[in-house]
Amino acid sequence: MKAPRYKWQPTTAEIAAAAGIRPEEVERFDHNTSPFAAEWAAGVAGSLPQVNEYPAATYRSLREAAASLSGLQPEQIVPGAGADELILLAARAFLSRGDTAAATTPTYPLYEIATIQAGAVFQSVPASSPDFAFPEDALVRAARDSDVVWICAPSNPLGSAVADDAVDAVIAATDGLVIIDAAYAEFSGTDWSSRVDRHHNVMVLRTLSKAYGIAGARVGYAMAHPDLINAIDGIRPPGSISSISVALGVEALGREQEMRATVAKVTALRGELAAGLAGVGFRVLPSLTNFVLCEVGARAHSLAAKLMGDGLVVRKFPSPGPLGEYLRFTVRSSAAQKRLIDHLERYVT
Ligand SMILES: Cc1ncc(COP(=O)(O)O)c(C=O)c1O
Repeated sequence: MKAPRYKWQPTTAEIAAAAGIRPEEVERFDHNTSPFAAEWAAGVAGSLPQVNEYPAATYRSLREAAASLSGLQPEQIVPGAGADELILLAARAFLSRGDTAAATTPTYPLYEIATIQAGAVFQSVPASSPDFAFPEDALVRAARDSDVVWICAPSNPLGSAVADDAVDAVIAATDGLVIIDAAYAEFSGTDWSSRVDRHHNVMVLRTLSKAYGIAGARVGYAMAHPDLINAIDGIRPPGSISSISVALGVEALGREQEMRATVAKVTALRGELAAGLAGVGFRVLPSLTNFVLCEVGARAHSLAAKLMGDGLVVRKFPSPGPLGEYLRFTVRSSAAQKRLIDHLERYVT
């Protein structure tokens, strides 16, 4: 099967040019990043004396920083250039032609892309509207015959948590590898690291792009048994995390208190955003992340296009499709969210 191609989002500069505004006036409600700039980042990058040299290949400092936070050993950690690189590496390391990887859908699209790029078959286990409850029984059945199961917990794009029991049932059902993508763990409070110590066939992915607020640095890490970590380590591209990103990553992981304060602020802003979206008549799904998913009806794509024309970029989904009538909105600053709701009120009412 031909591997699906990435669909790159329009850049902020392109959107600004099309809308006739300055790039600073574009608000990205589509990327699930942090609304708060990491003020400390300039100092870290500026203090790097050795950018003429390659980064240390072992990334020991990042492994140690991540290990001390999760209570695991550095040997149970491998960093990557974002969780995305680790998703692609895990598919290459653990899937071969003819293998199967299952996931509930809708989910993060890279699981399917990575699976197919690795020559394996992607098995979708659909969750149904209107509430998209986690289809535990169906996933357990699929897991029995799968080499890999991808679980996005909490879910992007749904925003919902996945119950501990459901994850444990899937782990118990398969001899294959269960990859839990916990990109939004800081917002939900469940980081799954205890499953790594308990099970040889569990890998948990984390990112510094969301709660830690350094998406541009591209830093993530995987936690698993050292055998699985070594399998990824052996096929990592050399130096894909730059030395600048390593420094930013170590510093970010050392600022746990700050991260927690950010999560609290984002959670409060999410309440404002959800209330505003409900106020314009959208059905807002509960969220344990830094974004909210809304059912907006058949006008979803035309609304997204109008907002884009104003420099307000929201996430739409393929139509027809299970989320064709939904839009996803990332938490932004209070002012940006007010601007969004003002524009929506104009278009919707
Ligand atoms: C579920 C999920 N996994 C992984 C990623 C990518 O993370 P990173 O920026 O670390 O590559 C995202 C980003 O949106 C995501 O939502």
